[in-house]
Amino acid sequence: MRRAIFPGSFDPVTNGHLDIIQRGCKLFDEIIVAILVNPEKTAFFGLDERSEILSQVMQTIDHGDCKVTVDSFEGLLVQYAVEKNAHAIVRGIRAISDYEYELQMALMNRRLQPRLETVFMMPAEEYSYVSSRLVKEVFQLGAPIDGLVPPLVEQRMRQKK
Ligand code: PNS
Repeated sequence: MRRAIFPGSFDPVTNGHLDIIQRGCKLFDEIIVAILVNPEKTAFFGLDERSEILSQVMQTIDHGDCKVTVDSFEGLLVQYAVEKNAHAIVRGIRAISDYEYELQMALMNRRLQPRLETVFMMPAEEYSYVSSRLVKEVFQLGAPIDGLVPPLVEQRMRQKK
């Protein structure tokens, strides 16, 4: 039973995240999509909303035999991963610019917990420029975001406006 954690802020979940989860499902038997609880960061969607949206969206994607669950965590990611008996952390890398930060995190996490591996996955090219931050920015400036996020996310963002 190979279990991985896919951590992130997911504010909001994008089609790029879904692409990574589906790719991760080819490698792991279980993926826990883990939302970071970060009280210092003002989020567009609260933790409960993100959790509910993610859970609903997970039911709409094809994840084969892989079990996908949604959870949240506070504090150190490696500690959470050990508590969940996870073997790996999955992170998506879009461009070289992501690599430096991701490498630092992966190496720090390895130092803290050498048994835990970080697996980097590349999303489909069509999502290589999609980030939660840019989705929020263009949405707030009135641009369309269809195709970048699941329809439920777009709907919930419009309700918030
Ligand atoms: O979606 P994000 O914001 O890029 O995700 C970043 C995340 C949640 C992976 C990272 O901030 C994290 O792991 N935070 C938990 C605290 C922690 O373990 N920090 C040390 C990382 S080396």
